[in-house]
Amino acid sequence: MQVLSVASEVYPLVKTGGLADVAGALPLALAHHGVSVKTLMPGYPAVLHAVQDRRRVMVIDNLLGEPAEILEAHYKGLDLLILDCPALFDREGGPYVDEAAKDHPDNWRRFAALSKAGALIAQGGMEGWRPDLVHVHDWQAALVPVYMRYATEPEIPTLITIHNIAFQGQFGAEIFRGLHLPPHAFSIDGVEYFGGVGYLKAGLQASWAISTVSPSYAEEILTPEFGMGLEGLLAYRAADLTGIVNGIDANVWNPESDPHIKAHYGMGSMKLRAANKQAVAERFGLYQGSGPLFCVISRLTWQKGMDMLAEVIDELVQTGARLAVLGSGDRALENAFHAAAQQHSGRVSLVTGYDEPLSHLMQAGCDGIVIPSRFEPCGLTQLYGLRYGCIPIVARTGGLNDTVIDASPAALSAKAATGVSFSPIIAANLRRALRRAVKLYQDPKVWTGMQKQGMKSDVSWDMSAGLYASRYSDLLMRKGA
Ligand code: ADP
Ligand code: GLC
Repeated sequence: MQVLSVASEVYPLVKTGGLADVAGALPLALAHHGVSVKTLMPGYPAVLHAVQDRRRVMVIDNLLGEPAEILEAHYKGLDLLILDCPALFDREGGPYVDEAAKDHPDNWRRFAALSKAGALIAQGGMEGWRPDLVHVHDWQAALVPVYMRYATEPEIPTLITIHNIAFQGQFGAEIFRGLHLPPHAFSIDGVEYFGGVGYLKAGLQASWAISTVSPSYAEEILTPEFGMGLEGLLAYRAADLTGIVNGIDANVWNPESDPHIKAHYGMGSMKLRAANKQAVAERFGLYQGSGPLFCVISRLTWQKGMDMLAEVIDELVQTGARLAVLGSGDRALENAFHAAAQQHSGRVSLVTGYDEPLSHLMQAGCDGIVIPSRFEPCGLTQLYGLRYGCIPIVARTGGLNDTVIDASPAALSAKAATGVSFSPIIAANLRRALRRAVKLYQDPKVWTGMQKQGMKSDVSWDMSAGLYASRYSDLLMRKGA
């Protein structure tokens, strides 16, 4: 089976969050299930710079008014199709923002162009290759099924995956003309949404099927609390909605061979983690001590519950724990962690910015990772934590709920516990969860048992890739029916 995957970021080429990890790892895992994937992504400068062996496979004279080409390349096991359109993608900054971290004002056009290119490939525009099915990710690729629906060629099946429903690609009605869709597409059955244009909304409507990145989140988004306005449409399409939990690339995230960590270790040599712990403490300027060293590796935002963590830091420090924070995001939250680091020098420390190698060292050296998200479609850092023996302390929501087993008395006695979780998601409960984690840490036998239990959890892509493969097969059968 041949699949075209379309995504706006793909690890290891461009990454701002978990979407890139998934878009980069899932194709490799699908290969073991008889699915061969080509991934279409924008030709950002970093991408064109990294891939050497590229070859032009398609010319698009007029992609929403711009000349563009599709380049084929192979990179670290991925088959890539790169949308080379300098007018839209040859820019400094991140994939979505300029150097001053401001959204590009023409993001609507940049990602409509990505989607239109995807639709043209799906319709057989590329010589020598045509997919059986198209799988698109998030709002940036959500118009692919929309362009396909309004084209004259017969449709092939489409699946859209929601990684985070908080980001919907909502724009004013004035952009509609620039999308080059037929006029009747500006309707409630098309792209129109509350008087403007909604990319994710339109994609959810036009796709044959919808998935999201955990079973719990698939249920949550049917409610007004989590659906962010799209719960009605999703309820209407509930028969086509599934939740498949993300996995991780077990080769990139392997404590026995990770090039970014100080000492390699496995379940039989947990004591070797100490060297990594010391390296983290040194890097963050934290005292060595007998209490646990917890960490955060995250966007510093309200979604991630970082305001609640800032609120309970004083009490956390009083328990003897230390906290290393790696992240960036809302200025007010960065300032709150800076202030806490000053007040509790040697016990709390913040490294602002994005540092992939450091994130590996932290998982390998810290005792626990704190993830108090208000909502979390899947979450990947708890999966890395499980694999590295860095015990997740999480809010009970979305994928966190589906992947971490709380250290309840029953789970402890059955030797099944892999973390600590709490709900309802308020600061007082986070405080209690952290206290509970510190107590568990004080019994090394219990703590090590939980670490090993976590390391035994299957967090690989294997099972979930199988679920995607069978979803694809179902859709192909529906096409044949
Ligand atoms: P989200 O995509 O919502 O941000 P996920 O948990 O799915 O959350 O994925 C976040 C990914 O980004 C993980 O791979 C995590 O390790 C990484 N990450 C987040 N912040 C940083 C940072 N400051 N430095 C390095 N890696 C980070
Ligand atoms: C989004 C979600 C996160 C998920 C990631 C990959 O960024 O916020 O929970 O793990 O996508 O699916």
